[in-house]
Amino acid sequence: MRKSFAIIALTILAVVSSVATVVATFDCKKLQVVGHAYDLSALARQITLESNATTPPTVTETKYIINPCAPLTPEPDTVPEADRCPENAWVCRSVTNYKKGAELRLIEVNSVAGSKKGDEPVVEARVAGDEPPSEFHWKMGGAQVEKANWATDIKFVCDKRAKNEDLPKVMDFKDGVLSLEWSVPAACALDDKSGGDKKPDDGNKDEDGERGKSSGGFFSTLLTIFVAVFMLYFVVGVMYKYLVVRASGLDLIPNLAFWREFPYLCADFAQHIWDAVGGRRRGGYSVV
Ligand SMILES: *[C@@H]1O[C@H](CO)[C@@H](O)[C@H](O)[C@H]1NC(C)=O
Repeated sequence: MRKSFAIIALTILAVVSSVATVVATFDCKKLQVVGHAYDLSALARQITLESNATTPPTVTETKYIINPCAPLTPEPDTVPEADRCPENAWVCRSVTNYKKGAELRLIEVNSVAGSKKGDEPVVEARVAGDEPPSEFHWKMGGAQVEKANWATDIKFVCDKRAKNEDLPKVMDFKDGVLSLEWSVPAACALDDKSGGDKKPDDGNKDEDGERGKSSGGFFSTLLTIFVAVFMLYFVVGVMYKYLVVRASGLDLIPNLAFWREFPYLCADFAQHIWDAVGGRRRGGYSVV
């Protein structure tokens, strides 16, 4: 009895967590910004920005390594561990000090975006009517340094005359927040939204856009909530059946009769929809 309970609980957890993972994954190729689709995959690479400041008697070099689409690849073992960018960083900042006749000295290295496995950026934009936003922000928190939360804010600007190979500009690094500006054609919304795979929920996505801001995707949030509520129902239902009703095996599943019927109900429903759509397409006639 205990075993079947454990198996059921584990199965539910596995299903729920895999669904949640799929929903939460940030995908540069299919980015949704306030209901409009963008494809940033042309920018999916590691970019290095370096600049030197003369600080007599030394030169101080600040370097940023950035990938807007994925965590940075870990540095090789030849780099001493303390000098490496932290794991799971998407944007890394390092400062090196050069002095004539002395060895270079890495004086700072840390993550400005990404700190834990699974960390993902959030995209935000202001909405102007139904027009896709011509700029949006890519934001992500990084390391905590001296009680300050480091973070990166990339302002993507749609610029069809620029090239995707163009580098982002460092605007500012203040109070641990790195501001970049990146004008590229990849930051323009995909015009052909109806290009073959228009989803039925597109209408609702536009509605979401009118609220002004969205992070990641309204639908993934909705689906996550739905999945969480369903999981709660299931877990509480199974616990109730196990502890109060003292059921075992399949009987542990709450509302078993309904769930047994569920596939048939779905099939029935799909058949009805199919009939309705098919019937209309054929001008009122349907195949008997
Ligand atoms: C900065 O200065 C150092 C030392 O002079 C030099 O090795 C490095 O290439 C310079 N970097 C840039 C981006 O100019």
